[in-house]
Amino acid sequence: MTRRSHPEREDGRKESADARSADAKSADVAPATARSPKPPGPSGFPVVDSTVAASRDPLGFTDELASYGDLVSYGAFGEEFVAVFDPRIVETVLVSENDAFVKGDFEQAFGDLLAPQGVAFTEGERWRRQRTALQSAFTPDRIESYAAEMVAATAARADDWADGEAVELGDAFAGLTLHILTRALFDLDLDAQRGAVVRDATEAIGAIMDRFGLLSFLPEWAPSRTERRYEAAMAGLDDLVDDLMAERRDEAAEVDPDRDDLLSLLVAAAEAEGTGIGNEETGMNAEVVRDQLVTFLFAGHETTSTALTYACWLLAGHPDVRRRLDAEIDRVLGGRDPSFADVSQLDYTEQVTKEALRLYPPVYALYRQPKDEVLVDDYRIPPDTTLQIATYEIQRDECWWVAPDEFRPERWQEENASDRPEYAYFPFGGGPRHCLGMRFAMTELQLVLATLARRVEFERVTDDLDLSMGLTLDPGAVEVRVRKKMR
Ligand code: HEM
Repeated sequence: MTRRSHPEREDGRKESADARSADAKSADVAPATARSPKPPGPSGFPVVDSTVAASRDPLGFTDELASYGDLVSYGAFGEEFVAVFDPRIVETVLVSENDAFVKGDFEQAFGDLLAPQGVAFTEGERWRRQRTALQSAFTPDRIESYAAEMVAATAARADDWADGEAVELGDAFAGLTLHILTRALFDLDLDAQRGAVVRDATEAIGAIMDRFGLLSFLPEWAPSRTERRYEAAMAGLDDLVDDLMAERRDEAAEVDPDRDDLLSLLVAAAEAEGTGIGNEETGMNAEVVRDQLVTFLFAGHETTSTALTYACWLLAGHPDVRRRLDAEIDRVLGGRDPSFADVSQLDYTEQVTKEALRLYPPVYALYRQPKDEVLVDDYRIPPDTTLQIATYEIQRDECWWVAPDEFRPERWQEENASDRPEYAYFPFGGGPRHCLGMRFAMTELQLVLATLARRVEFERVTDDLDLSMGLTLDPGAVEVRVRKKMR
């Protein structure tokens, strides 16, 4: 799909790919001079630049950009962007020179829609304190303690499906991953009604993201249906979060003052903020806790649900891969459900998971902005420029991947490991701001897949995905038919 068909580029890329083996890890970043050129790119249309092309078919547009080089300038939605297609530059921006960059205006605008004071959107010392406080919910011991819930919830869902039933995977997995997240991290059971509030908000944010950039062209006095839906859904979510916090405060006082689930940690993190504008007695800042809760509800369920949808759809279309997966599951589990201890033995399940995340990274692009004007690979990047790190395209770049559009879990076997650059694959980002829930997500994905594979097979009803860039890489409706396995 994402191929560099530009004839001049093919050779240039090949050469530079060879030149970039192990010793050429990251790209150079230096202060820019006024004479340094900006990266090349499409000229676009007058006034709206490439907005029309970018909003009509964002994936196709980004693919097209890749033919201009490793760094490509374009204007869209009233903003200046530079798309990044080179793993070395990804490593520079996310890891080795991460201090020179912030998430920036584009991410911030998204954060403002969702949770401006949540750990995914704050910067500097404030972000560091939040991240430190929150990471204790993601230690290996903690992840281990969540595993049984991941398996039990999956088994219950799969046992509810009837043989021959057509299931829309996106809906089914969103319900499952939201349940797992709130049970595991918040020690909460969201009933169907409360779950629907979160799903509603997720969908409303997804819808507004589809036309996110276009919002800047809309007169404020003409709210669209999408915006009204978003306002209503977020108001519902705020009410839900208020209720959950109030319930937890009451319970914590009565039941166990030392509760250490993530919701309780969030309260502690808000206290560490020291602003105490919420509850004067506890020093809890209600706004910060609300934003952290919302961050985890979104970052932690839609991503994994999307990844599971792709993985199961891919498995349904590749009977040979499915047979190998079943063989591993039979051999390692011998007829029982998986536990945390099995995860390290489920090598092929891990390869399937990694390969699904390569082909369809739920977080399909990352955004950064330089703090000051910088020179990256001899090109000048002004501070008001948004770097769009093209995860989806890089993970399918034929410079780094053989048969890049094919589903081949075997490519992850150790003996097939190549010397491709580390950041040719980064579904969880990289550097200090890499995904806080990565271990949680990888454990969940493997346990859910192994639990499902023991019980059911899926046959594709939806043959072709209808990919679009929403909150995550959206596959459209994906229907499969469930075939129950004899156990
Ligand atoms: C397959 C599932 C997931 C994928 C593909 C994914 C991907 C990512 C990526 C790429 C980032 C980095 C964003 C950036 O650098 O701009 C990120 C950040 C984050 N993720 Fe995930 N994620 C997943 C699951 C989860 C889960 C399960 C949780 C929580 C339970 C979570 C919580 C977070 C948080 C809090 C951040 C922000 C970290 C920070 O800025 O310090 N994610 N995720």
